Amino acid sequence: MYADQRRHHPDPGAMILAERSLNAVMLHSGPLASQLPLLVTGSYLLITSQGWGQRGITRAIQSALPGACLGIVDSVPPNPSISYVLAHHNPAIVADFIIALGGGSVMDAAKAFAALCGKTASEASFLAMLEKPDGFDLSNPPKIIAIPTTSGTGSEITRWATIWSQQGQKYSLSHPALMPAHALLDSALCLSMPSLVTLTGGLDALSHACEALWNNSHTSESDRYAQLAIRLLVKNLPAALADPGNSTIRENMQQAALYAGYAMSITKTAIAHSISYPLTGEFDIPHGIACSFTLPEVMEFNLASERLELIAQAAGTSRTHLPAWCAAFLKQIGVDDYLKRCHDRFASITSKRLELINPARAGNNIRPVTAQDAQAILQKAIERIQGA
Ligand SMILES: [Fe+2]
Repeated sequence: MYADQRRHHPDPGAMILAERSLNAVMLHSGPLASQLPLLVTGSYLLITSQGWGQRGITRAIQSALPGACLGIVDSVPPNPSISYVLAHHNPAIVADFIIALGGGSVMDAAKAFAALCGKTASEASFLAMLEKPDGFDLSNPPKIIAIPTTSGTGSEITRWATIWSQQGQKYSLSHPALMPAHALLDSALCLSMPSLVTLTGGLDALSHACEALWNNSHTSESDRYAQLAIRLLVKNLPAALADPGNSTIRENMQQAALYAGYAMSITKTAIAHSISYPLTGEFDIPHGIACSFTLPEVMEFNLASERLELIAQAAGTSRTHLPAWCAAFLKQIGVDDYLKRCHDRFASITSKRLELINPARAGNNIRPVTAQDAQAILQKAIERIQGA
């Protein structure tokens, strides 16, 4: 359905303008205080994480908007759980808009609240919704206004949300009606982003773009946006780490994440994400690191495909040199150091038998990949980093 909703838009590459849309998400850039009143024209529920309340942004939003604020949920934790969503869901609140101000976890929670809006929900009924993501009734949910404060997940431009069980099981909520109506990019919200969040977000976007290119479901449009994202990331991710207060660099990172998210929304992810899930679930490696540190080895695995030329072109190298280029890029921005110094258990990952093949993800890879292949990719990546 969302493919039919896609509108024609001019070539991207310059500043995102208000009339542009991707996935039918209307894109806006500029200061929150001036843009938001144009978008939120009725009652609203505000979803955010703790820091934005403490910084006074939630108060600023309330004073900027004329519509009724029906509730504020300002405690969304990383990786929101089923029990968190149910504990903060109020079926009596039926707002016209849900404002999601934050990173990927806030977007996830906001989509869950939109899915449950007006419904009395139990753990069993919410689980049934999560297990049948496209089957539940969602005819007229509140419009989601996505205001990302991190640059990486691309959640501001997808209809997907990830919700976790208490036992750490990952559930995907997905429905065309959960696509944000508007994404508002205000680079001022990114200027205080910690360096690890900048790094992990940028790497997640890089992985989304690469995975969209070595993907069986690629289209000319996903290729174009994935390449644009890689071009922006290669230049701006190291720059954002070196100069975090530079708003032009932050704008470029926002665009890169948006483009990579759009490409991924067409293709979904592939083997690098498949390998990443147990590394995050069982070893707590942040998602952006877990889905990117194996990219050089996945490139090597896929190198016979001419599609790798598209990544090499965008990265400014040759296909032959692409794996080495990527390994050097990751090392330069601190991925090897992070894994060696911050993860005591990094070296022991391969001693545990992990389920590295998620059939839906791995099946997207342009070259068929077995569990043994995935294990070899992981082993080589760990050896490279340990030997560096
Ligand atoms: Fe990702």
